[in-house]
Amino acid sequence: MIFYFSGTGNSKYCADMLADKLEDIVINTADYIKKDGKFNSDKPLIFVCPTYAWKIPKVFADFIKKSNFSGNNNAYFIMTCGGETGNAQKEITDLCMQKGFIYRGLLPIVMPDNYIVLFPAPKEEQISQMIEKAHKKINDNINIIKTLVNFKPLNTNAFDNLKSGAINTGMYKFFIKTKKFKVENTCISCGKCEKVCPLNNIKLINNKPVWGNDCTHCMACISYCPVSAIDYGKATKGKRRYTCCEYKKER
Ligand SMILES: Cc1cc2nc3c(=O)[nH]c(=O)nc-3n(C[C@H](O)[C@H](O)[C@H](O)COP(=O)(O)O)c2cc1C
Ligand code: SF4
Ligand code: SF4
Repeated sequence: MIFYFSGTGNSKYCADMLADKLEDIVINTADYIKKDGKFNSDKPLIFVCPTYAWKIPKVFADFIKKSNFSGNNNAYFIMTCGGETGNAQKEITDLCMQKGFIYRGLLPIVMPDNYIVLFPAPKEEQISQMIEKAHKKINDNINIIKTLVNFKPLNTNAFDNLKSGAINTGMYKFFIKTKKFKVENTCISCGKCEKVCPLNNIKLINNKPVWGNDCTHCMACISYCPVSAIDYGKATKGKRRYTCCEYKKER
């Protein structure tokens, strides 16, 4: 059973590809933010998510903690990222211990970086190359999951510990906020931002989006707005927006 969280579609792309190759089902964990999940699977558990400040998103960790899983307890983690996952596996292995999962490893998959608050979105030609590479890396690892062996171990160092530790904590505490979201007059009141927010943090009031405080900076609202009417202060002004293409079945 494949569980994913995704803001701009990279992790959904990987989850859909895994479901296709492994003939398994895919669950969008955003549907379980406000309710408890109970899952039974005879196939391994595969968790797919973006990397947020060198860790799995808090909301995804919370989903795993509060959900009930029975059946096959082999757990594979696949983290899409713009570059690297630091020492994300520290929290993941602890989580597996708590849940009684057999930790089968972490596979980082480099995909276009969606964090336009800090970086520019990659250019079109880079995007297709990155997705092609990601596709190959997943294909190369399918048999590992099918045969229930571990992903290749990842090496980490003291700096990785710092990134996934104190820097992650600081980023969530001081940086991941909603007050800088602003909507321009070009907004056409289509409601897409409200619909795509995985945390249901946006409400259209007088036909314009208003943000609550429950945000994980997934970048979905900014990136899916059809007229680029949303900005995050000056940080995103004039920048390209990035959303991933849909995975197309290969069978
Ligand atoms: C809040 C935030 C933090 C991020 N932190 C990292 C990071 O620490 N390392 C990294 O390689 N990429 C980082 N990224 C990039 C995303 O992990 C990457 O683009 C991911 O594939 C997005 O997945 P999605 O399209 O499924 O949401 C970050 C993105 C966001 C929005
Ligand atoms: S997605 Fe963009 S255009 Fe549509 S309601 Fe939201 S801000 Fe307005
Ligand atoms: S408000 Fe925007 S950035 Fe925050 S969680 Fe919702 S869609 Fe993601």
